[in-house]
Amino acid sequence: MRIILLGPPGAGKGTQAQFISKEFDIPQISTGDMLRAAIKEGSELGKKAKDIMNAGGLVSDDLIINLVKERIAKPDCVNGCIFDGFPRTIPQAQALADADVAINHVVEISVPDDEIVNRLSGRRQHPNSGRVYHIHHNPPKVDGIDDVTGEALIQREDDKESTIRERLATYHEQTSTLVGFYQAKAEEGDDAPKYNKFDGTQGIDDVKQQILSVLKG
Ligand code: AP5
Ligand code: ZN
Repeated sequence: MRIILLGPPGAGKGTQAQFISKEFDIPQISTGDMLRAAIKEGSELGKKAKDIMNAGGLVSDDLIINLVKERIAKPDCVNGCIFDGFPRTIPQAQALADADVAINHVVEISVPDDEIVNRLSGRRQHPNSGRVYHIHHNPPKVDGIDDVTGEALIQREDDKESTIRERLATYHEQTSTLVGFYQAKAEEGDDAPKYNKFDGTQGIDDVKQQILSVLKG
């Protein structure tokens, strides 16, 4: 099963991807996490991505498409995967279609802009696994510490209010057009990806139950 998670920064894509990954035993492919790992390693890709990410813009389609093509060729993707934060532009979506990567479900998680700033300022993340917490909505057992590894949690560099606003603007200008793109595709017939929209302002567990019930069919 292949699933695309679509939604603005802070909608809960990473949070829900981890539940879906466990339920269906398929990997989460977060282009944001992959880029952050590249920055940490100091690779060429990381050097190219760093300033763009900290300004809230989008890394070039060519770099992202190559990154994803390499990732989905790995053996753990044989039974499918969850795309978290990809595609983000029409050329990225087109590249998936041109490579005959069939998508079963597009899951849109919708949250209004006002709530996003509040959410992202309370986010904490475990850098190596990508595990996500929130200081109020999903706190770790011990403040500042990852539940699984006992390692320190960090705040993402792009979770400053000014950058969050830029990321939201980028979403509305460049990524929200994928809503219409995939809704139109869903009309194409039985083999087309199914499109479902979820209200991401509900509690984490409610959103999870609703998404899993649709995916389980
Ligand atoms: P990326 O890492 O994908 O960031 P994003 O899209 O801005 O999304 P976030 O990770 O901020 O939010 P999320 O929806 O995953 O929410 P989360 O579950 O963490 O991308 C970062 C950057 O990389 C981009 O800006 C761009 O520069 C670049 N990039 C990445 N992919 C690219 C691509 N394809 N093309 C070009 N450039 C690319 O939840 C957020 C917080 O809310 C957490 O604290 C969580 O605990 C909490 N929370 C979650 N759900 C709920 C709920 N229901 N109620 C209350 N709190 C909740
Ligand atoms: Zn994320």
